Amino acid sequence: MSVHRPVLLTEALAGLAVRPGATVVDATFGRGGHARALLACLQERGVLHAFDRDPQAAACAWREFAGAANFSFHRRNFAELASWAAEQGLCGGIDAVLLDLGVSSPQLDDPQRGFSFTQDGPLDMRMDPECGRPAAQWLATADEREIATVLWRFGEERNSRRIARRIVEARVRAPITTTRQLAELIAAVPGPRSRRLHPATRSFQAIRIFINDELGALAQALDAAPALLAPGGRLAVISFHSLEDRLVKRFLRQARQQGTFGHLARVFPQPAEIADNPRARSAVLRIAERAG
Ligand SMILES: C[S@@+](CC[C@H](N)C(=O)[O-])C[C@H]1O[C@@H](n2cnc3c(N)ncnc32)[C@H](O)[C@@H]1O
Repeated sequence: MSVHRPVLLTEALAGLAVRPGATVVDATFGRGGHARALLACLQERGVLHAFDRDPQAAACAWREFAGAANFSFHRRNFAELASWAAEQGLCGGIDAVLLDLGVSSPQLDDPQRGFSFTQDGPLDMRMDPECGRPAAQWLATADEREIATVLWRFGEERNSRRIARRIVEARVRAPITTTRQLAELIAAVPGPRSRRLHPATRSFQAIRIFINDELGALAQALDAAPALLAPGGRLAVISFHSLEDRLVKRFLRQARQQGTFGHLARVFPQPAEIADNPRARSAVLRIAERAG
């Protein structure tokens, strides 16, 4: 069974500075690695509200955290944080918010979820399979220019136009419904290549980000943060690629100018963590404090 190892755990806990009895939001529960440590900081007082849009993450939360009286799980998109906090009467009453972005190892490692180009499975890629369209459906109908734009904007794929053309040509002959079909098709497209990355890496990242509107959800969560957090409350965001980190950096720069947040730190994983967990290699953590 695939496990998820929390990235930058010690650093995120230090940055969030959670005290016993605090009100905390873990917006990306995953398999509860960070959540478990945050609960320990609360010392059975206060409350940890955890969010995840993935049904298997929800099942894990309900199975493994059911015994914690001060734990509350919400199977929702973190884009809805502002409306959720308003419904709960929690605006301005939250002491810490964590966003550990992207997909979890169990999502990536399960071929049935369609995230991985190294294993064959249905081309789905939805974090919430009850919401939106699977990637295969989008690829079957989008026009060539839209596909190229997605590959370029969300994957910075230099070969985006050629790949888009090949997808549109190939789908006339047979629908592209599996991860292997798509990965092989992309690998066969001539053009500039990275020596480090599989040729399908950037395209898979781009399609995943687009299908789940990952950057839109992040922007909405960041916009909600000033209203959610109490003065002195902390925000921690762990990003895994430059598109996410750029959004966080710009948000914090503007928030500093507006006087809503102070940017406290930017932290990278130690070499030992990267050696132990290669998934951590591209991670960056930013910590900010809500101004009083
Ligand atoms: C990197 S994993 C988090 C791992 C977690 N911190 C742990 O230690 O187990 C990211 C999780 O966030 C969830 N997620 C991503 N975007 C989301 C969104 N917009 N709303 C809710 N959950 C989201 C994914 O389903 C995934 O389970």
